[in-house]
Amino acid sequence: MSERPYVIDEMISAKAIAARIEDLCRDIHKSFADTEKLVVVGLLRGSFVFIADLVRELDLPVEVDFLEVSSYGDAMESSREVRVLKDLRGGIEGRDVLVVEDIVDTGHTLSHVTRLLLSRNPARLRTIALLDKPSRREADFKADWIGFEIPDEFVVGYGIDFAQRNRNLPFIGKVRFT
Ligand code: IMP
Repeated sequence: MSERPYVIDEMISAKAIAARIEDLCRDIHKSFADTEKLVVVGLLRGSFVFIADLVRELDLPVEVDFLEVSSYGDAMESSREVRVLKDLRGGIEGRDVLVVEDIVDTGHTLSHVTRLLLSRNPARLRTIALLDKPSRREADFKADWIGFEIPDEFVVGYGIDFAQRNRNLPFIGKVRFT
């Protein structure tokens, strides 16, 4: 599939993403204003750019940790199986946790990850995703904060890949096969 030629049409500019992150951080700040330390958990690999921008906009004491779960492989279809490939380095019991994801698509990944992390008894756990494709939802999951709702299009850029490519684009673009 990735061998087919395609072009990328810009959908959300780098400037629009930066402005939205400022808004989101104001809200996150209100929710966690009294935190001793917030553990910001990035889901690898798609969230690595988003989490980098997010933590630099958050005026709170933060720790950063990463969790990797299996999802798409190199294909465009979501697998329903979610396996932990790389677990957190630190414990989260009694801690405040913010889980950062790139896209909520079917919702299986974040619904599984929140269940897993809640079983470790954090004090508070909230979720944020840069993008949401509500029309694709299969699992009953709603993130606490969403950057942008988008239609059912395959997107890349700003950390998000298509078969490991295009993560380094500064904007979110939609894949169009030519
Ligand atoms: P879910 O479990 O179906 O919600 O899948 C979420 C994961 O699927 C995201 O973290 C992405 O890795 C991947 N994903 C969903 N939509 C896209 C897309 O448009 N482009 C690239 N990856 C996607």
